[in-house]
Amino acid sequence: MQRTKILTLLNSDNPREAVLVKGWVRTRRDSKTFSFIELNDGSCLKNIQIIIDSTFPNYEEVKTLTTGSAIAVHGRLVPSQGKGQRWEVQATAFEIISLAPDSYPLQKKRHSDEFLRTIAHLRPRTNKYGAAFRIRSELSYAVHRFFRERGFKYIHTPIITGSDCEGAGELFRVTTLQPGTVCLTDGVVDFTQDFFGQEANLTVSGQLAAEMFALALGDVYTFGPTFRAENSNTRRHVAEFWMIEPEMAFCDLAGNMDLAEEMITYLTRFVLKECAQDIELFARFVDRQLMPTLEALAQSKYVRLPYTEAVEILQKSGHRFEYEVTWGKDLQAEHENFLTDTHFKQPVILYDYPKTIKPFYMRLNDDDRTVAAMDVLVPRIGEIIGGSQREERLDVLAQRISASGLLPEKYWWYLDSRRFGTVPHSGFGLGFERLIMLMTGITNIRDVVPFPRTPKGIEF
Ligand code: 4AD
Ligand code: MG
Repeated sequence: MQRTKILTLLNSDNPREAVLVKGWVRTRRDSKTFSFIELNDGSCLKNIQIIIDSTFPNYEEVKTLTTGSAIAVHGRLVPSQGKGQRWEVQATAFEIISLAPDSYPLQKKRHSDEFLRTIAHLRPRTNKYGAAFRIRSELSYAVHRFFRERGFKYIHTPIITGSDCEGAGELFRVTTLQPGTVCLTDGVVDFTQDFFGQEANLTVSGQLAAEMFALALGDVYTFGPTFRAENSNTRRHVAEFWMIEPEMAFCDLAGNMDLAEEMITYLTRFVLKECAQDIELFARFVDRQLMPTLEALAQSKYVRLPYTEAVEILQKSGHRFEYEVTWGKDLQAEHENFLTDTHFKQPVILYDYPKTIKPFYMRLNDDDRTVAAMDVLVPRIGEIIGGSQREERLDVLAQRISASGLLPEKYWWYLDSRRFGTVPHSGFGLGFERLIMLMTGITNIRDVVPFPRTPKGIEF
């Protein structure tokens, strides 16, 4: 007999004569004549209540059941007598799959996020983390659905690359050279001896590869892991994260912003509809403002504001920032938060940033000082999307690559795309973890990644 998932049982329209459920015991409560077991199998937030009669031949075994133990139960799905649930299972037979000793760390009380990070291998068995990772899974599906409905093609861009898309040098090196035996030529490591015959690293973004495919297939996207050796221990940075990167041929910056907005709206509506129960947990226990936030995200058009005007707003705000606001400098988290949380009280798309603080591939504006960049900032999290219209003019691009201190010869293939049928095109990167933070109200990025990678943190 096949097991039925608890989600299916709880959504059943009718009683069922014979069902088999398998899962982990959350709690056991004994009365004189029965044991009540709350069983969870991860298929949904809710547990199913199992009733085991004290006349059971192996009832003594029931009394050994501890929190965290795994069991299989045969029984009947019947309307529940108790409050709070429609169905329960009247056991006809049960079997212990394995008993968890009393040292099982997830006892009934509420545990702190900090503690749960130290047992990342067990935290998905809690209500909160189970819900977070079900939402993560649903959102991944929704991303693909969003693009497929719009005719975008999914491209698997490489994980190991020889280029540094963002030019920020935050690269994890990939090598088969053994430390201690590397060949030095004039004191410099000789990478011709390495696996690829040149320096290689984990990708920081799939964009450059995605651009090549946008210039062939039109509208494309990549959705995969990216890696950054940023040594920043913040609540919104991890060293390994997933990015969603659409890239569109024949599209300018305004069209790019439209897609970004449409995508966030779509994904918000999707979780509100498909993850209602899990979202409700976050709205009740994690972030009291979650429902209004999500409902606003599902509706609103975002403010669109040039960087230069944002700088003026910040300078005139009278607010004392830790870091001074000056035109030409990157905005700090405190500045972004002021715009979204205090000034506009909604998401803001900033655009036309100074060229000096943005990567080489962004299209140079006619003022020669700014580029056609855009960042989508959302309340509390700050930057969730970074993107731009791309520089499609060969001469300007080549010049910008050199000015960024990169070697144009290494980017010959990228430059080629501007040689043969170049067209205006645009794209952006949405940080998937930051999206999940936005949708759940979780404030630390470590808590939306199954096994987060951070400076000095790779235990699991
Ligand atoms: O703004 P970024 O660096 O943009 C790019 O990488 C572009 N090549 C994307 C493109 O145009 N195709 O990164 C994009 C997003 C950020 O807005 C943020 O949400 C997320 O990726 N991100 C991080 N998320 C978690 N941890 C980190 N260390 C992150 N760095 C960036
Ligand atoms: Mg950025």
